[in-house]
Amino acid sequence: MREELPTLEPPERLLCGPGPTNVEPAVIDAMRKPMLGHLDPVLHDILLDVVDMLRRAWRMPDGLVLPLHCTGTAGMEAGLANLLEPGDTAIVARSGYFGRRIADIAGRCGAEVVSVTADWGEAVPNERIVQELDRHPRARLVAVVHAETSTGVGHPLAELAAEIRDRDVLLMADCVTSLGGVELDAGAWGIDYAYSCTQKCLAAPPGMSPIAVSEAALERIRSRRTPVPFSFDLRLLEGYWVERPAAYHHTAPILGIYALHEALRMLLEEGLETRWARHTEAGAHLQRELKARGLELLADPEHQLAPLTAVRVPDGIDGKEVQVRLLREHGIEVGGGLGPSAPSMWRIGLMGRNATTETADRVLGAFDAVLDREPSLASV
Ligand SMILES: Cc1ncc(COP(=O)(O)O)c(C=O)c1O
Repeated sequence: MREELPTLEPPERLLCGPGPTNVEPAVIDAMRKPMLGHLDPVLHDILLDVVDMLRRAWRMPDGLVLPLHCTGTAGMEAGLANLLEPGDTAIVARSGYFGRRIADIAGRCGAEVVSVTADWGEAVPNERIVQELDRHPRARLVAVVHAETSTGVGHPLAELAAEIRDRDVLLMADCVTSLGGVELDAGAWGIDYAYSCTQKCLAAPPGMSPIAVSEAALERIRSRRTPVPFSFDLRLLEGYWVERPAAYHHTAPILGIYALHEALRMLLEEGLETRWARHTEAGAHLQRELKARGLELLADPEHQLAPLTAVRVPDGIDGKEVQVRLLREHGIEVGGGLGPSAPSMWRIGLMGRNATTETADRVLGAFDAVLDREPSLASV
């Protein structure tokens, strides 16, 4: 008798949380193309195309650009493991969940971590980061989150980079939610290590972390006293991704690479500026409409991100229950607060293919329908 095994039938969802976002159909199609071996010379040409397109996406003409085969967190960890050695001082701007994670991992790398904090919804002011740098002139690294997905706050990264450009310190930026959705010019701004993710504004599946590393950072890595973990060894990764003939480092996730290839092609075909403007327009429309409904946004308006909007849950409303009903009744995923200390909030992402006013209206319509039936909202 044949055993009845479960079949795989995930429902259709509109993914408008903090990520992952819906994958572009063309990106899914790319993953159906013929599988190649990781040492096939044809694949090695494809890797070079990916690196070339990624350079343009980061706007990083020099240094090393490649996608790591890992999550965004591991992209963060790879940067810290490469740029820090035990005893180094790292200044970390922390005004949300992911800034805290950077500080945590930097500590695990043996660094003395100087945290510069701000409240939920605020950006850490650049002058406070610079003050800490004055107090710790031997600091080796400044780290900030360009787009803090836990709060919807964007850090003024270009301004920070300009302020510390003449100092002997490297600048690391978490661009997980900004690459492909928010203005970013890693080379011209002078970012030394930027990392991102495939599952946010690039609208590809999760699993890869594109990075951009400056010449100054590579120089620092070359002069390390201690080795970096094998999986994060950028020299060895460069040997596979960029140098030819390619040298085996690990078995690459071939279909994920096809997906990224297509996602980058779509990004560049649309044009970076056009893509950023599309995110700006969709985010601004959503934010305007939410405020018109009497809802309060978490982020300081001056630093509000477009791809991610955090909305305070009004008093008397069960925010989690609203999320459950959005999912169950409307097939729409939105996020809640991240971590135990987060204020009660909904996090709405309009990223990649979902960065349109039409998608924003779909989410707003679903919120209206769910909240209309929340009697306690009469007072909002
Ligand atoms: C700003 C930011 N940094 C880092 C991460 C970690 O990425 P991952 O969940 O892929 O490890 C995320 C994930 O949402 C993020 O939003």
